[in-house]
Amino acid sequence: MDRYAVVGNPIAHSKSPAIHAAFAAQTGQQLQYEALLAPPDGFADTVAAFRTAGGRGLNVTVPFKLEAFALADRRTPRAEAAGAVNTLLFDDHGILGDNTDGAGLVRDLTHNLGVPLTGRRILLLGAGGAARGAILPLLAEHPAALVIANRTASKAIELARIFADRTNGPQPAGCGFAELAGSSFDVVINATAASLSAQAPDLPPGLYAAGAPAYDMMYGSGDTPFMATARQDGAAAVADGLGMLVEQAAESFLLWRGVRPETAAVLAQLRRQIA
Ligand code: ATR
Repeated sequence: MDRYAVVGNPIAHSKSPAIHAAFAAQTGQQLQYEALLAPPDGFADTVAAFRTAGGRGLNVTVPFKLEAFALADRRTPRAEAAGAVNTLLFDDHGILGDNTDGAGLVRDLTHNLGVPLTGRRILLLGAGGAARGAILPLLAEHPAALVIANRTASKAIELARIFADRTNGPQPAGCGFAELAGSSFDVVINATAASLSAQAPDLPPGLYAAGAPAYDMMYGSGDTPFMATARQDGAAAVADGLGMLVEQAAESFLLWRGVRPETAAVLAQLRRQIA
């Protein structure tokens, strides 16, 4: 049976084995998907051993997405743009590195949540790996504007510079949080790691245009701190990143198996589990 796995450290909490088992059952694909704990200095060895044992592909999570990027001998354009790899495919040509996180975000917003991005003003909060992976997929939706704002303004300005001239639409802009005062947006996406330390980004009020939703890439059993402050600040709706998790998995499954699984039932089941 074809073998796949998710590799990370820690890995015990990963929902990927359950998600991919559900996809396999639903699509009638014969495959096995497990969780691999790699030592902090043993990512490449873990990948090599899995490949030698007949593994066909891997999902890669914290803290190995940059090492996975370096390990791949070919990369998709979206992985190059993200500067990180969350999906490896082993084939006769070697190791292909892909990044499905940004596509998962866009699909959750547009397909699951009914949030249009085309022609909209998008605010992306954060300038780390999570934000970077989202930029090209967001620009590909042809928004009216994409503003990248970060606690450390220089990092957002640098990211906007990296992605300048990547589309024929509007150029991304970068700034600090304070410079957002007086602006409003149609969609606000939190890609900062603030929720991990039970914090919300320190944003000026009034960022939400009428009807604008807030989206947090993080998720938990209830509102994240960002979602809670977004409600107070007038967001018309709030969503967490559980749908993004399921959609990035579906994109990986599609790359490996050539079949796009249905995500709604899997997402609903996960939602019940974390409630
Ligand atoms: P990831 O891979 O999850 O993006 P990262 O590359 O370490 O992680 O980036 C973390 C991001 O979260 C950064 O944009 C960071 O802002 P700084 O560049 O100013 O450090 C942001 N971040 C972390 N904690 C935050 C907080 N409490 N408020 C606002 N932004 C925060």
